[in-house]
Amino acid sequence: MNKTWWKESVVYQIYPISFLDSNGDGIGDLRGILSKLDYLKELGVDVVWLCPIYKSPNHDNGYDISDYKDIMEQFGTMEDFDELLREAHARGLKIMMDLVLNHTSDEHPWFIESRSSKDNPKRDFYIWRKGKDGGPPNNWESYFSGSVWEYDDTTGEYYLHLYSKHQPDLNWENPDVVDCMHEMIEWWLKKGVDGFRLDAIAHIAKAVGLPDGDNPHHLPTVRAYDLFSNLEHVHTLLHQLYTELLFHYDIMTVGETSGLGPEEALSYVGDTRGELNMVFQFEHMQLDAVSGGSGKWDIRPWNLLELKKVMSNWQTVLHGRGWNANYWCNHDQPRPVSRFGDDGRYRVESAKMLATFMHMLEGTPYIYQGEEIGMTNIAFDSIEDYRDVETHNFYRDQLKQGASEEKVMQAIRQKSRDNARTPMQWDGTKEAGFTTGTPWIAVNPNYREINVEAALRDPDSILHYYKKLIALRKEHEVIVYGKYELLLPDDPEIYVFTRTLGEAKLLVILNFFGREPELQLPPELDLSAKELLISNYAVAGDDDLGGTVRLRPYEARVYMLQA
Ligand code: GLC
Ligand code: CA
Repeated sequence: MNKTWWKESVVYQIYPISFLDSNGDGIGDLRGILSKLDYLKELGVDVVWLCPIYKSPNHDNGYDISDYKDIMEQFGTMEDFDELLREAHARGLKIMMDLVLNHTSDEHPWFIESRSSKDNPKRDFYIWRKGKDGGPPNNWESYFSGSVWEYDDTTGEYYLHLYSKHQPDLNWENPDVVDCMHEMIEWWLKKGVDGFRLDAIAHIAKAVGLPDGDNPHHLPTVRAYDLFSNLEHVHTLLHQLYTELLFHYDIMTVGETSGLGPEEALSYVGDTRGELNMVFQFEHMQLDAVSGGSGKWDIRPWNLLELKKVMSNWQTVLHGRGWNANYWCNHDQPRPVSRFGDDGRYRVESAKMLATFMHMLEGTPYIYQGEEIGMTNIAFDSIEDYRDVETHNFYRDQLKQGASEEKVMQAIRQKSRDNARTPMQWDGTKEAGFTTGTPWIAVNPNYREINVEAALRDPDSILHYYKKLIALRKEHEVIVYGKYELLLPDDPEIYVFTRTLGEAKLLVILNFFGREPELQLPPELDLSAKELLISNYAVAGDDDLGGTVRLRPYEARVYMLQA
């Protein structure tokens, strides 16, 4: 297997608006990030992924870009960015940018021109169609509720937006769009950025003719994801981007690709494809949603056997052929300790156990800001306290369709993207040390207890545990490159796997719940020489794994064995 720096790295994701505010306007900014580079260096991460910082009217917190070569005013200036890049590099940290290629803001000059008349040269930069039978051109449903089509008075046609109506989709069938995007990407590469996360990249191509999705229930809009996700033309475009541009730079790339399994993912990340280094898959993020239900909001309990199946499949299929991106959280997902662990009594233990899992898998681990201190979901009382456009659209839509407010709010408390977007909790002072002003979204009231300063002081904190996990990765190649094998596939509470590389074998034991199950390892496992590398509980020196061991709630242990 090829060894490269991005396989050996740990990535830390920053959501700038919620990271740290340096000037008291309640909004996180670049100078806030700059002042925390030493903190990130201390933590031991290698790469910082910055969510979008480009000029934007902020309907979707920067994922609606109005100028790709300028910085959002509230975040600072291009000089601030250049300084951030310089200072990061001076510390040996790399910067990965978020690249939003599927759509722009409706305030981007291209779109303003495009909508102005049917024969404007920029008309074909976006996807315009006439209505059908007095309604939109097809029945596709937007990720953010409602139709993907918005009627525009000026020319009497509709434009397509997979996300909010303020995010019109670019028309990648138009070679001028391709040229403009390549030119922009090269501009950032020349600045010296170290990689890109390609937002919503699976959707840049749409089915030819934009046909209706299958609609057995005659609904006004249907989830037609197959008609705009992971189509062949996406691969053509990515391969072109790679060979013409990315190939010439030593960078890392990760694509956001929902709706695929590992076999399909290989067409993006297969070693010989010349497209992307890795992709974010979503199968494990869907384990708590009713399949065929109304997307992520229709919640069901997740179970460990399904998680094992999904993750083992990715580990096995990609091994030696492509590379995984491993994550529990990002700015679109609930907080993992609330979702997959226990954010009450066993918050610390379960956060450490979940971290152990992601860091011991094959693939590059991603840490989302605040995860390293075990930040939790937020439960706001009122919809007014939420800020996210997806959340608000869902709320409005559901009430319109007659759902009860209580039920809708319950789903929002569990799944709203704002769970991950409350401000980073730096210390126990007012507003968690995030701002001296009024934060753009309320701070989680548990900040007095859960914050970086307290975590730094406590040698047993989640934060120190993350540091140790990251350091272990630098010490033992088997953690990076070892081959994964699942043990005890049918155990519903304990997740056990090994990773093997040459003479080294890691044994990872994880109790995923708050009970105390008995563990019995397969007798063929050679335990004669074992060394405990890390655990979230104190483990006695003579722990005998040969017999039956009772695990403690959310216990995690990693041993080094001899292969
Ligand atoms: C991606 C981003 C999400 C954004 C959407 C539209 O899914 O992660 O935050 O809303 O794309 O750009
Ligand atoms: Ca600010």
